Amino acid sequence: MTDRRPARIIALVNQKGGPGKTTLAMHLAGELGRRGFRVMVADADPQGTATRWAAAAPEDLPFPAAVGGLAATDGRLHRELRKFLEVFDYIVVDCPPSADSPTSQSALLVADLALVPVIPSPPDLWAGVAIGQVIASVMAINDGLRARLVVNQRKAHTRLAASLAPLLPKYGIPVLDTQVGDREAFRHAAAGGVTVADLPRASKAAEEIASLTDDVLAILKGAT
Ligand SMILES: Nc1ncnc2c1ncn2[C@@H]1O[C@H](COP(=O)(O)OP(=O)(O)OP(=O)(O)O)[C@@H](O)[C@H]1O
Ligand SMILES: [Mg+2]
Repeated sequence: MTDRRPARIIALVNQKGGPGKTTLAMHLAGELGRRGFRVMVADADPQGTATRWAAAAPEDLPFPAAVGGLAATDGRLHRELRKFLEVFDYIVVDCPPSADSPTSQSALLVADLALVPVIPSPPDLWAGVAIGQVIASVMAINDGLRARLVVNQRKAHTRLAASLAPLLPKYGIPVLDTQVGDREAFRHAAAGGVTVADLPRASKAAEEIASLTDDVLAILKGAT
């Protein structure tokens, strides 16, 4: 249809393994899908975690976003993604754990928004800082690219410790308003091939994902 605008691309990237790229990619994509948008997760990680997650979905509860395996495209990922621009409203790219890999750089070249999940602990924050430079250098080419840090796996009842606050500006990337807690529900969701919105007693986690999705949509609309 000619009156639809091309898909917006959101890339989950970072330098260090395990802060929650796949968890947030699947939940953001799932929430957008539940809201009626046409969504694809581009699984650009050779580990294939997003693909396995969707494949684990119960038969009567298909995952609310399509998942496509694009890890083999490496530095040609941006060209592959362009093929899907007219088919989807949002494409969420789950990158491998290396920001300077050809795949991550390729995703950033065509992304509208880079989300960088970070665990709020000093070793994790030190290890991830290089992503700021990677994103800044891609922004010189892709001037529409925006970026946000997403605090993930935050322990319950703790404020972001004062000692961590000075580390975040070292990334040179603003912090997303919504922070996501360390909640068992996120691990259960992956195991069951669903999202926290489908789980009982996971309303706090589901609220965080709805709020994160609202933040992302506001950024893409240029409201913030
Ligand atoms: N908010 C959260 N609360 C609890 N567990 C979480 C949360 N986010 C992620 N996890 C768990 O942390 C682990 C790593 O998460 P995930 O696989 O999403 O990270 P990743 O950045 O994609 O890792 P990789 O770099 O290996 O691709 C998983 O076991 C996941 O279930
Ligand atoms: Mg992953």
